[in-house]
Amino acid sequence: MAPTSFKLNTGQDIPAVGLGTWQSKAGEVEKAVSYALQNGYKLVDGAYCYGNEDEVGAGLKEAFANGVKREDVFVMTKVWATYNTRVGEAIEKSLKSLGLDYVDMYLIHWPVLLNPEGNDDKFPTLPDGSRDILRDWNHVEAWKQMEALVETGKVKAIGVCNYSKKYLEELLPVAKIVPAINQIENHPSLPQQEIVDLCREKGIHIVSYSPLGSTGSPLMTCEPVVKVAEKKGVSAGTVLLSYHVARGSTVLAKSVNPDRIKANTQIVDLDAEDMKLLNDYSDDLTKRGELKRYVYPPFGVDFGFPDKS
Ligand SMILES: NC(=O)c1ccc[n+]([C@@H]2O[C@H](COP(=O)([O-])OP(=O)(O)OC[C@H]3O[C@@H](n4cnc5c(N)ncnc54)[C@H](OP(=O)(O)O)[C@@H]3O)[C@@H](O)[C@H]2O)c1
Repeated sequence: MAPTSFKLNTGQDIPAVGLGTWQSKAGEVEKAVSYALQNGYKLVDGAYCYGNEDEVGAGLKEAFANGVKREDVFVMTKVWATYNTRVGEAIEKSLKSLGLDYVDMYLIHWPVLLNPEGNDDKFPTLPDGSRDILRDWNHVEAWKQMEALVETGKVKAIGVCNYSKKYLEELLPVAKIVPAINQIENHPSLPQQEIVDLCREKGIHIVSYSPLGSTGSPLMTCEPVVKVAEKKGVSAGTVLLSYHVARGSTVLAKSVNPDRIKANTQIVDLDAEDMKLLNDYSDDLTKRGELKRYVYPPFGVDFGFPDKS
């Protein structure tokens, strides 16, 4: 049986599958969150930057009103890059929107500082249209503020997103708290094995995002995925989600469609032969320099990812 949860370095249990909320429209995400929590999900992933935390909060409220217990739900959200020098202010905003006293996990969304006094709350730009980034800022500063937050009880645990090996190696020697999580884009077209291996060695749990390839789910027709799906008699989506659980990672899938929300809870055991097919595909893409990263905001910063550096 595939595991349904994993243990974090904080002692918390984190579910193996969670509901993503990026690009879930305001009118749809409230229903999606409420439906998911009443149909087996115990993990919801959000972010200030997604601009829909009020509606995610409304979905949580509806689920709680229908008998779901707060303590049975793992709520994860993220500080956006314009707030990386104001982490305390950012968590207050998120908690207010979500209607919660605490979140189970708070993450740095991207290790970059967008101008907090720029021309936009989320995506400040310079006159030439490029992102307004303060380049002499160091991401370790945000982590120090994250560490201080833990003592307030407003966040049960802290972690990072989009950290490469290079960035983690800068952070870990000066961190008082080892991140509990690194949330990264992960799928057979972007296995990110070096960061997955480093995180495992350091006790940092991987949470995989865009497992279906994000918008339009382009990985659904990828040949080895279809082959494994046919062999197992399951959907390509089930294979793509089960791949992470077999790797010991939590996986986030976004959907606002009740049938797909439900379908995405189906996780099957992938055996060594199934994983070899998927891993050979990853190795082949790596050798050919054809890895695919679907989510890469135009920050113009080298985050140290080998496929982008
Ligand atoms: N930390 C970060 O920087 C970061 C970045 C990106 C994402 N994330 C998190 O990870 C979550 C998941 O990633 P994602 O939203 O990029 O993409 P994803 O989950 O890989 O794919 C979502 C897309 O697949 C569709 N879909 C969902 N289930 C399906 C199924 N069973 N069959 C066919 N199509 C299906 C969805 O449409 P419908 O809604 O119409 O079903 C949507 O178009 C996000 O929502 C977010 O919470 C984090």
